[in-house]
Amino acid sequence: MRKNIVAGNWKMNNDLDASIELVHELILATDNIEIGYTRIVVAPTFVNLQKIREIAEGSRIEVAAQNMHQESNGAFTGEVSAEMLQNIGINDVILGHSERRLYYNETDKMLAKKASKAIGNNMNIIFCFGELLEDRKSENHFSVVENQLKNGLFHLTAKELGFVVLAYEPVWAIGTGETASPEQAQEMHAFIRSLLSSKYGKEIAEEVSILYGGSVKPSNAKEIFSKPDVDGGLIGGAALKADDFLAIVKTF
Ligand code: PGA
Repeated sequence: MRKNIVAGNWKMNNDLDASIELVHELILATDNIEIGYTRIVVAPTFVNLQKIREIAEGSRIEVAAQNMHQESNGAFTGEVSAEMLQNIGINDVILGHSERRLYYNETDKMLAKKASKAIGNNMNIIFCFGELLEDRKSENHFSVVENQLKNGLFHLTAKELGFVVLAYEPVWAIGTGETASPEQAQEMHAFIRSLLSSKYGKEIAEEVSILYGGSVKPSNAKEIFSKPDVDGGLIGGAALKADDFLAIVKTF
């Protein structure tokens, strides 16, 4: 059975003290709540990853990186490799976030390499994709998403797909306060699962968790997560406050 996941992407927020405080609050609050199959993930900035992972050890909170480079080492100033992450005990990484695509020119081709590299190192990935506002306005959102998946991910084998969680994040809903309606999310998630099914078969498609991201908050999480093909969320702004993030986690 596929898992529900609530992942908090802290982006370039929270210095070390704030990160420690937040993760402590999350650990305490999730210690003994009934949340069944739900995985809870946080993604702090690189410099705080090791500390936060050490603090979260043995708790319900898993720790992921926000990005990584596709090469193992070399002259790539400012970058971090899969091996370096694993060396500090990090085995999960977010790839292809729209901010990486938009501000750092990450392409589907580059992301295909990053995905292969991470999975080749037995790392789990949260693979993000989603259309721009103009794509939706021109009703191209399905083909944009299809291309992002085909070019960035569908080179993986069925076995490799076992390391992948998908995160559909319509760019127009990220950090804007505007959310896809539960129906819009379900429509796209069902489409994504049908793409997975045609490529990998129905049984495998049913096993892949597909998260929704884009202005998820305590007030709308329950309705969005109640949709059959929505298996949780990738949360930005609302992941920075323990109470909000926990309220979202508890909707499952
Ligand atoms: P948001 O960000 O929840 O602040 O819209 C979501 C994301 O970027 O993953």
